[in-house]
Amino acid sequence: MKNSIFTVLAALVLYPAGAQPVTPQDRRRAAELVERMTLDEKIGQLVQQRGGGAVTGPDKTELSVERLVREGRCGSVFNIKSFEETERLQRIAVEESRLGIPLLIGADVIHGFRTIFPINLAVAASWDPAAAESLARVSAREASAMGIHWTFSPMCDVSRDPRWGRVSEGAGEDPYLGARVAEAMVRGYQGDLSDPSSVLACVKHFAAYGAPQAGREYHAVDMSERVFRDSYLPPYRAALDAGAATVMTSFNDLDGVPATANRWLMRDLLRDELGFGGFVVTDYGTIGELKAHGVAGDDAQAAELALRAGVNMDMMSAAYLFHAAELVREGRIPESLIDSLCREVLAVKFRLGLFDDPFRYQAKEREKCYYAPEHLDAARRVARSSMVLLENRGGVLPLKKGSRIALVGPFADSRWDLIGSWVHFAEAGRTSTFLDGLRARFGADRVTYARGCDPHKALEGGISEAVAAAAKSDVVLVALGLKAGESGEAASLASLALPDAQRDLLESLKQTGKPIVVLLVTGRPMELAREAELADALLLTWYPGTMAGEALADVVSGDYNPSGRLPMTFPRTVGQIPIHYDMKSTGRPADESGKPNKYTSRYLDVPNSPQYCFGYGLSYTTFGYSDLRVLTPETAVGGEVRVSVRVTNTGGRDGEEVVQLYVRDLLSGVTRPVRELKGFRKVMLRAGESREVTFTLTPDDLSFWRLDKKWGQEPGDYHVWVGHDSDCTLGGSFRITE
Ligand code: GLC
Repeated sequence: MKNSIFTVLAALVLYPAGAQPVTPQDRRRAAELVERMTLDEKIGQLVQQRGGGAVTGPDKTELSVERLVREGRCGSVFNIKSFEETERLQRIAVEESRLGIPLLIGADVIHGFRTIFPINLAVAASWDPAAAESLARVSAREASAMGIHWTFSPMCDVSRDPRWGRVSEGAGEDPYLGARVAEAMVRGYQGDLSDPSSVLACVKHFAAYGAPQAGREYHAVDMSERVFRDSYLPPYRAALDAGAATVMTSFNDLDGVPATANRWLMRDLLRDELGFGGFVVTDYGTIGELKAHGVAGDDAQAAELALRAGVNMDMMSAAYLFHAAELVREGRIPESLIDSLCREVLAVKFRLGLFDDPFRYQAKEREKCYYAPEHLDAARRVARSSMVLLENRGGVLPLKKGSRIALVGPFADSRWDLIGSWVHFAEAGRTSTFLDGLRARFGADRVTYARGCDPHKALEGGISEAVAAAAKSDVVLVALGLKAGESGEAASLASLALPDAQRDLLESLKQTGKPIVVLLVTGRPMELAREAELADALLLTWYPGTMAGEALADVVSGDYNPSGRLPMTFPRTVGQIPIHYDMKSTGRPADESGKPNKYTSRYLDVPNSPQYCFGYGLSYTTFGYSDLRVLTPETAVGGEVRVSVRVTNTGGRDGEEVVQLYVRDLLSGVTRPVRELKGFRKVMLRAGESREVTFTLTPDDLSFWRLDKKWGQEPGDYHVWVGHDSDCTLGGSFRITE
């Protein structure tokens, strides 16, 4: 991806640099310290090793972390397993190394530490940035209590491909929703970095890791610069604008250049255009992986490429540890480059106050905050507001008072599977299962449990036991889906269908004639056409976290009216992928309202439309939209556009509605999506209540990567819709003039 100086200058004007993570004083103090360091000590600040805790990648080097820390040759450690261990290693660094430079201690804390929140894709489904911020705040409070300074989160990777297992860790398919979630999480994690209950955030995985070919993990990413900037860059940029202190490189190549060796990404875009002022850490071993990518002949060349690309810290490949000094001695890398990369790392350590007090995070009594009532309450609220009601025929939900409930399925009484992936610090025994929650809410005597089957295989007598439980109940809740390990890293799937053993269980339960409520436990969109036919109600619970049981009981009892909306499109079939709401029109758009026209962009065997569209979700009440008004029908480039709409709770129960605003640029120098989300608001409306909701579209909201390769607006006519989901039709128009 070429970069003319003009593009850089233009972008400098148009991409306002965000909050800076470090101060000029931090930089000054870092520069003074570097002057006193040996080459090996400077390189040591660019080395990160695992601390003996969770293994999150291929472990090739059994190096003694203690020895490296003592010799000042390792400046950061991650995934340590206890308070005592963080203190022990920090004491070695501070008291036994020559200069006593404190360690930076990192960890994967992405949807909770001890108190586990729903997975990140579920939090996006709440369409509530405050929910994302509360997840991050609680995570920071608990993780920092164990002496952790830095979390490798938020994951800002947009993804349109549910075959990829890590969709569970992000905010779904949309750049605007993803950006709002990412910035909220940075606020929650970093808060006020002078407060030891805050942790450094890490924008990952930079960049475009969510678009691997064929949805296959770690695969190549190939896209135009326009698609990258319009559809994948916004969440990274929002997180950086919110002041994120660190960035993590991604495993993939982008346009043929692996991220870890990609100067365009890490210097021209990240630092020059976006104004990033923190430091870059690699993902696990990615410098060493440049050999397998075929761009480095050995680890020394890999280290040289990464250093030149502006990568500060080497997670676990040991390429900097073993080869950086030789590169300097051979004149292949100037020592000034090592100095500069080291200064950026040290400035962040100064920012955290670690030189003033290396043990400011070490206060054993702070561990009392784990599972604090307010933490568990926050996790419960986020979990129930993230659940998405996909079907509810005959109002089978909420359950009628006094119902006798059969709770069936492989995930009905599961603990580990309900907290999702990336939960190294969780204690699964603290998870309340669906069975726990329902028995607590409805009474143990009203709930009969039967496992029915295992996730991937039938159980001897399982179906007959489940059918017997159904026979003596008024309603059957069946918890189906995928195991926690079937989402997250290294968990790509070529099929999105439920396993046969679970489908057989559901078909047998359907034969009982009892109302069926499917509880879908998953970290990704799945193929649900058959399940949607068999179920009377279909509730997407995701992996709800520590408070799974209470959150489920809140929703199915009607104590809480479900308000989740899909952050990703659910395809009818995996053959439609990639499928997302903001696709292009094409020159022959299919018209599915009438008889299909052969020579249009469509399939012979399935409609273009998905099973469930982006933004979709039901409630126990209904909402109506009226009186959409474009308050500024004509605005010059650089001006704001205001749109208002009246939303009414037209049903009989209080409930929250996610009011969504979409725009379409009708005529442009490049092809533009048929609609794009540019605003949303989650509002609580009492039964019968009506409220006017107003949106303001900024110039940045209407900007895109234009034909002239500049980020900005274009004069022209726009359509605007406001409604319940990405299929909404209540619309208006406005014009942007020169
Ligand atoms: C893993 C993941 C990354 C994580 C890192 C450290 O491979 O890709 O998200 O932060 O390694 O565990």
